[in-house]
Amino acid sequence: MSNVSQLPSRKVSDKSQQILERNSRFIPGGMASVNRRTSQTLAFARGAGAYLWDVDGNRYVDYHAGFAPYILGHNDPDQQAAVNQSFADQLSNFGSGPTEQEGELAELFLQCVPTAERVQFLNSGSEATAQAIRVSRAATGREHVILIQGSYNGNQNVVAANLMDSVEMLGGRQAAGGEYPLNPITAGIPKGEAALLHPVEFNDLEAVENIARRYEIAALITEPVLQNIGIVKPDPGYHAGLRRLADHYGFKLIFDEVKTGFRAALGGYQAVCGVTPDLSTFGKAIANGFPIAALAGKTELMELAMSSDATRRVLIAGTYNAHPVTVSATLACLRKLADPELDVYGYLDRLSERLTDGLAECFDRHGLTATVVRQGSAHSFYFLPEPPRNWWEIISGHNFALDAKLRSLLIERGVYYFPTPTKQGSISFAHTAEDIEFTLQMMDDAIGSLNNA
Ligand SMILES: Cc1ncc(COP(=O)(O)O)c(C=O)c1O
Repeated sequence: MSNVSQLPSRKVSDKSQQILERNSRFIPGGMASVNRRTSQTLAFARGAGAYLWDVDGNRYVDYHAGFAPYILGHNDPDQQAAVNQSFADQLSNFGSGPTEQEGELAELFLQCVPTAERVQFLNSGSEATAQAIRVSRAATGREHVILIQGSYNGNQNVVAANLMDSVEMLGGRQAAGGEYPLNPITAGIPKGEAALLHPVEFNDLEAVENIARRYEIAALITEPVLQNIGIVKPDPGYHAGLRRLADHYGFKLIFDEVKTGFRAALGGYQAVCGVTPDLSTFGKAIANGFPIAALAGKTELMELAMSSDATRRVLIAGTYNAHPVTVSATLACLRKLADPELDVYGYLDRLSERLTDGLAECFDRHGLTATVVRQGSAHSFYFLPEPPRNWWEIISGHNFALDAKLRSLLIERGVYYFPTPTKQGSISFAHTAEDIEFTLQMMDDAIGSLNNA
């Protein structure tokens, strides 16, 4: 186990800042995804297993996992071999006709997620969620959509709203049984489209029912566990309640499993909670960092892509859908995740439990009021006395400044949590018990230095 006093000294030059400045001459913001911008700029050069190295050569135990995909770890050797083999086999993105590999992947996917009947492969979670809503609209002939405050469902017009709103943006109150004001997270959404979106609080069935009575709802989309604002779990019976309301009012229930899929369990969170959505979307951990997403669900909905009725047919098409390199990497990932001998999920659970128990003990030892929340291999911490049930409880109670400070102190100590308050930590199959003990030591040291500051 590492010892704090033996930590190698870390050298941080201005190289990261220079890269940002150079890139900014060509790319607005200096990087390809605005969500990657952080208060302290750190440019990484490589990743292997559980570790990242920055451009100065400093090593970090990584819990960001590239926003959660890396469930096996960075540059997994089995995926590398599969990708190399795809080149050796001269697979190409033929763009004409079926391929054996996409069928193989679909079959394996449906074995892993038996609650889904059909699957289609796309390139990003944002595409998948937008398509899920489009399919729901085509199936129901309705247009209104219920969104959940704090659920991130991608960058498209139909979902890009109400993520980490301030108390003021929410109207200064919790919307129990009610609808929040729509707060888009992007400019450029036409008013007509925005008027079709109805954000309500997580764990508030009454609010969903109120909206469903007032509007012709096509779909409700939610992350089954909110994992873009830390980890916010459903109350017992919440998902079953959503299912009942969807059936009663005739709207489609969409679970956005882009984060929970293949991370909460092989079968997604739907396997954990025992509630089957009409449609669900997958991305991230399905391919351990390769760009693929899946839209899956009931046959009658998924087959709308092939409807003979042109007024109901949904266009699901894409030049790079099921790209052979990505499919090869995804097959390698799912085979590993599904391998009973490897017991990936058992291993992740044990490690994750040790980490979250240790973090809770550490906060307690230092007299900090904190709650550590875990869902499988994902975890988060809040400076709140109880696990939050919704975004309101976080924004109105959590100590964001302390959260940010702690993340920054951990980064200085070689532990990388994304430096934005509440963002989830994710463990990979490449993490070891030693990594966890090192992390706990660093957390202890970081909190100690907070107290001394
Ligand atoms: C739950 C959820 N849905 C959808 C998305 C969008 O996926 P992508 O970034 O692949 O477009 C994300 C991305 O973070 C996500 O966390």
